[in-house]
Amino acid sequence: MEATLPRFEAMPLDRELVRDLRSDHAGESGAVTIYRGILAVSRDEGVRRFAREHMATELRHLAFFESWLPARYRSALLPLWNASGFLLGAVAALLGPRWVYVTIDAVETFVVGHYQEQLDVLSGGDHSLLQLAEVLRGFQQDEGHHRDDAADRRGGGMTLPQKAWQALIDYGSRAGVWVARRV
Ligand SMILES: [Fe+2]
Ligand SMILES: [Fe+2]
Repeated sequence: MEATLPRFEAMPLDRELVRDLRSDHAGESGAVTIYRGILAVSRDEGVRRFAREHMATELRHLAFFESWLPARYRSALLPLWNASGFLLGAVAALLGPRWVYVTIDAVETFVVGHYQEQLDVLSGGDHSLLQLAEVLRGFQQDEGHHRDDAADRRGGGMTLPQKAWQALIDYGSRAGVWVARRV
């Protein structure tokens, strides 16, 4: 589907959709760096395998946006998103494997919802917008698998600090998207 998607300039994208796509690119870039942060710190073989597998998917998502979304529509704050992602992954890995899975569960739960909001809008659009929706739906499914994988590994019975950490990640992700849609 990605191969047949019209180029960015040929699509009827309004300002709001362009803003969404800027936040998507920023998010996928930050997602790659979360896993880089985890891999920079964790020596746990299970965590490292988990991070390498997920990062391969995030690199594919990022490659799509890098090849399709013109540079002038990308966030001016990419260094900030990348640093935030790296820090988030590194801190989680310092705290231990379970915190890594708690973190990815929270991040991907947010991302699945973020893509869903766009799918709801795109589903009412013309053929090219439906094609874009197919691409984003594929990414959303990948993020859902990441979320489920992390949730399985973290298991039940999260501690209060872990629940607070997830709430903080949700809040931070919302704030990040708000900014990345504009800058
Ligand atoms: Fe992704
Ligand atoms: Fe993901």
